[in-house]
Amino acid sequence: MKSLMPPEAYIDESWFLREQKLLFGNIWQFIAPYSLLSKTNAFVRRRVSGIDIIVQNASGQIIAYENVCRHRLSPIQNEDQGVRAMVCPYHGWSYDENGFAKVIPFENECYRFSAEERMSLKLNTFHIYRFGSLIFINLSDNPINFYDQFDSNGVRELKDASDLFDSEILVTKFRLKCNWKLIYENLRDPLHPRFVHSSTIYRHVKFKAEVDETAAAEAKLFDASKSHSRDDFLADLRSFSGGGKNEPMPDLPSYQWHQYVERYGQDDWYLNWLMFPNLHIASGSAGYSFIIEHHIPISAAQTEMWVYYVTGKKKRKYPTSAAVLLAHIKGAETVLREDFDIMEKVQSAITANSPPQMTGDYEYQNMLIEKWYLSLMEGRHGF
Ligand code: FES
Ligand SMILES: [Fe+2]
Repeated sequence: MKSLMPPEAYIDESWFLREQKLLFGNIWQFIAPYSLLSKTNAFVRRRVSGIDIIVQNASGQIIAYENVCRHRLSPIQNEDQGVRAMVCPYHGWSYDENGFAKVIPFENECYRFSAEERMSLKLNTFHIYRFGSLIFINLSDNPINFYDQFDSNGVRELKDASDLFDSEILVTKFRLKCNWKLIYENLRDPLHPRFVHSSTIYRHVKFKAEVDETAAAEAKLFDASKSHSRDDFLADLRSFSGGGKNEPMPDLPSYQWHQYVERYGQDDWYLNWLMFPNLHIASGSAGYSFIIEHHIPISAAQTEMWVYYVTGKKKRKYPTSAAVLLAHIKGAETVLREDFDIMEKVQSAITANSPPQMTGDYEYQNMLIEKWYLSLMEGRHGF
C-alpha cells in the first residue's frame, strides 16, 4: 500500500521543528536508567528537544531540570553523567531538590536581591515518572497521565524486567545520519534481519514477518474526515508500545556468568520491547542481560543514540562483570552498525521528489503508527 508519509517528514527541518513541538513536547519519553542515578548527587545530562536537561538524584529525590543557572546562565553540570552536587561552577550557587537556589555565596554583600527576586530563583524543572528502573520525562507543563501513554501486558512485563537491572551499567553513544523515524520503523520491520543481519543475529534468532489480518485491515482503512475521540487517539498510542517474548533461541549458549545474575523469565527466547516512540529494550541472552537503546532526534537528518548494557542483578560480585558488559558491546555493535549503515543509506536517498514508500501488509505496525502520527502532525488530533 502507498505510504502516506511525505518525504518532508524525513528531511525537512521545519517539519522536524513542528514534530518536536507536537509530539516530543507532549509525550513521555525515556531519559535515563535509574541505575545511573541511584547514588546521592548522581546525574545524567541529555539534550532533548534542544533543551539541555539534567536528571539528578538530589537528596534521594529524582529531579529533572534545565541545565542553566539562574545567575548568568552557566551550565550547572558539564559532563554527560557523573556524581556531583547541584552547584554552579561559575559563582557557586547551589540548588535544592525542588530546583530553588539554596546557598548563594556572598549573597548579602554582593547580590542584594529583593525578597521577591530571591523567591523567583528557581531552575526550570520538568515532570518525571519512574517506571521500574526506567526514568521518563515529559516536557509539557500539563502532561498526560503516564498510563494514558503506556499500558499493555508487554509494558508491564518490561517494568518487571527493568526491576531486575543491575547497578553496574555500561554506556555508549552514537551519532546517526538519519531521521529518528527510520530507526523506529526499522525496529518494527521483522523482515529486514534475514537480509541485513544474515551473518549475525539472524543466525541465532529467526525473526518471522507475519501478517496480523485484523491489524493490517485496520491500517488500510484511512478516512481523514472520520473523527476519532481523544480516547481513541490515546488508545492507539498505547497500542504502539509493548513486546516481550519475540522468538525462540534454541541454541542459547550458556556462560558461567549466567549463574551469578538474576534472570528475567525462564524461557530461552529473544526478548524485545518497544516503547513508542524512541526506546528499544532487548535481551539477546534470554533474560540474563539487556540492551537499552534510546534514540534522541537532533535534526531532520541526525539522531543521537544512547546505548546501555546491563545484566540482571548480581547475586554476588564476580570479577569478570565489567568484561561481560564489554563483550556485550562488541556483539551488539556489529548488529547496530549493520542497521546504521542501511538507515544512513536510505536517508541519503530520500529527496523532496522521492516516490511514496510502498509498504506491505507485514508492515502493519508501521502503517498504524503512520496514520496516528499524521493525524497529530496534520492537526486532526492533539494531546
Ligand atoms: S552563573 Fe551560576 S553562579 Fe553565576
Ligand atoms: Fe536491524
